[in-house]
Amino acid sequence: MKNDHNGRHILVTGGCGYIGSHVTRQLSEAGFKPVVVDNLSAGFPEFLLNGEPLVKGSCGDVELVAQTLRKYQIESVMHFAASVVVPESVAEPVKYYQNNVVNSLNLIQTCVANGVRNFIFSSTGSVYGEDAPVPASETDRPAPTNPYSRSKWITEEMLRDIALSTGLRYTILRYFNVAGAHPGGKLGQKSKDATHLIKIGAEVATGKRAVLKIFGNDFDTKDGTGVRDYIHVEDLAAAHLAALSYLDAGGNPDTFNCGYGRGFSVLEVIKALEQACGHSLPVEIAPRRPGDISASVADNQKILTKLGWKPRHDNLDVIVKHALAWEKSLD
Ligand code: UD1
Repeated sequence: MKNDHNGRHILVTGGCGYIGSHVTRQLSEAGFKPVVVDNLSAGFPEFLLNGEPLVKGSCGDVELVAQTLRKYQIESVMHFAASVVVPESVAEPVKYYQNNVVNSLNLIQTCVANGVRNFIFSSTGSVYGEDAPVPASETDRPAPTNPYSRSKWITEEMLRDIALSTGLRYTILRYFNVAGAHPGGKLGQKSKDATHLIKIGAEVATGKRAVLKIFGNDFDTKDGTGVRDYIHVEDLAAAHLAALSYLDAGGNPDTFNCGYGRGFSVLEVIKALEQACGHSLPVEIAPRRPGDISASVADNQKILTKLGWKPRHDNLDVIVKHALAWEKSLD
């Protein structure tokens, strides 16, 4: 149902991507008018389901962004555009510092120069690094271990410094393991070289990939396989709208973990996938993937209490079911 948000324009960078498109849709459904800036390197214009305006280009293009901010009189920005593949970031760190740090700096500066008041930034639970407590809380000191995670952490720190000196108001959302798809099958994850477990599992379940490799079964976890806090993309999207309401209501700039506060192992995810597709999956035990940590779980008390975020899909079976339905709908 549409609420009265006076048709406010919200700039969404990376709005044609997996998470950005879910947020864009929720913004439109809530009565906002999202305007998307996306260079389409990993996004799809058809993911804009409500004809939201698309400005094709880089979020680091100062002139393009400035024009867009002025044209639509934008006061609030959600920044999703980024490179997000960890192994690639190790092989090509310059790309990650350019796309994630330099482009973000350009964007933030341009926002400040053009009167933007609210900035919502997509960060990652992987900033906590290898030795993080389980669950990890926002008060734990980040220690990112790869260029991708470091690029997000550096951007967080830039944003805090710039906000302090300019009055820009922000929320930083640290995503844990995002998965699933739109419950009605309208949107989901689309990428040629998937690396994420549930996406890969859905590909195996639908016969698009021969085998699901279990990267390590000798971790210090409940069954030896890696444990993660999987969050449904729709709930994550809703956290962004909650963050916007929080800033609108005068909430102080702050950082929030986005997860459910519980972890599932790789074996548990496989079992859920098998249940959802109705047959067993071909799996094999493989060596640990370089850089993988044993467990990553969010302490989510802060987002629950301060943002009033109410998860609706905290259920691994539902996450997997939606991911599978989406995978089946792709060619
Ligand atoms: C990845 C990123 C992380 C990012 C997060 C959310 C890496 C190393 N980390 O987290 O920075 O914030 O996505 O986007 O890429 N697994 C298998 N077989 C597979 C794939 C994965 O066993 O084919 C296991 C992994 O070892 C891990 C778990 O499944 O234990 C989840 O892996 P994945 O979905 O790739 O996410 P993360 O590595 O946790």
